[in-house]
Amino acid sequence: MDVCRIALVGATGAVGGVFLKILEERHFPASDIRLCASKRSVGKKLKVMGREIVVEEVTPRLLGEVDIVFIAAGASVSLEVAPLAVKQGAFVVDKSSAFRMDPDVPLVVPEVNGDDIADHKGIVSAPNCSTTPLVMVLKPLRELSPVRRVVVDTYQSVSGSGAEAVEELRVQSGRLMGEWDKTPDDPPLVNGDTRGVRHDAYPHPIAFNTLPHIEEFWDNGYTNEEMKMLNETRKILHDDRIAISATCVRVPVMVSHSEAVHIEFERPVSPDEVRETLSSFPGVCVVDEPKSNVYPMPVDAAGKDEVFVGRIRRDMSHPNGIAMWLVSDNLRKGAATNALQIAEEALRRGLVPRLKDSAVG
Ligand SMILES: NC(=O)c1ccc[n+]([C@@H]2O[C@H](COP(=O)([O-])OP(=O)(O)OC[C@H]3O[C@@H](n4cnc5c(N)ncnc54)[C@H](OP(=O)(O)O)[C@@H]3O)[C@@H](O)[C@H]2O)c1
Repeated sequence: MDVCRIALVGATGAVGGVFLKILEERHFPASDIRLCASKRSVGKKLKVMGREIVVEEVTPRLLGEVDIVFIAAGASVSLEVAPLAVKQGAFVVDKSSAFRMDPDVPLVVPEVNGDDIADHKGIVSAPNCSTTPLVMVLKPLRELSPVRRVVVDTYQSVSGSGAEAVEELRVQSGRLMGEWDKTPDDPPLVNGDTRGVRHDAYPHPIAFNTLPHIEEFWDNGYTNEEMKMLNETRKILHDDRIAISATCVRVPVMVSHSEAVHIEFERPVSPDEVRETLSSFPGVCVVDEPKSNVYPMPVDAAGKDEVFVGRIRRDMSHPNGIAMWLVSDNLRKGAATNALQIAEEALRRGLVPRLKDSAVG
């Protein structure tokens, strides 16, 4: 793989912090690393691959001095920075929703549709952190039998909303636990008195609670997050016929999203076929011995790159149905790892514009 110069916009955020760790873990071939964030973080120093790097402001000049720009700073920043970076000759891997449904921008999970990177016009988008694990299982399973319909309910961690939400869950939990500590003879049979608990990240407190609400509601009653799961899955799998109904729920978990998935195939498919197929797909790990209490859980998936799948069983409600449970670290495969894999794939295939001539195979 070519050695390249990179910039990360959003280096001080939840995804940014994990991205910097993974850069090191994967020995990503970066000769020069530039870190950017909002004005309030300019001048901060972050440690990356043994070097101390000062956070800078994003400028056209900086964007012109790197080969690949990763953006993990929110859609409005991406809308501004990505076109500028492309104009400056850089290749952009964008983590936000800004360009995901743009027909000129490939939306990629490398194990699923890595070939789509070849169609890029400067920007490649990475999907939403709930869509990525779903397509990682749908891709190999569609080869067993076409998938007609998916019903998916998500249990999404607070880190999916960024660093502010992580802090909010920590503070709210600490406050409620502290109140119970003061009255040890009075065990908490309620979820804590959330009146007066400060909540900025969500419309309600998240500690000891679940919110059936991620992003804004559409007129059809679904939320934007739920519609992303439908639209992004169809785009990645190149299949506009798959019917998908999602309910996305925020839960008081720090890291890793879980999903209860019900898949209806064109023909009956057995749980054993599903286990075997998923076990041989790269990036998927089957963890399925429920009678021994072994199944995927966020506490185990956090910090790992695989999508973990278990509770694989026949869906009793449909002759061609399979039900399963999957868990994936939203900051890694759901965000940073996938973005780095896209860049690695583009480098391997000689698709990074500034490095085209020196690509290997
Ligand atoms: N969290 C996830 O699981 C996840 C998964 C998939 C995709 N994503 C996407 O990844 C992006 C980042 O999410 P996050 O969870 O890491 O958010 P976050 O924790 O809120 O971090 C946001 C980052 O963007 C920076 N930023 C804000 N305004 C900026 C500006 N004008 N110019 C440059 N940098 C700016 C922030 O810098 P300061 O620290 O200086 O404010 C911070 O580094 C979002 O688009 C999100 O949708 C997140």
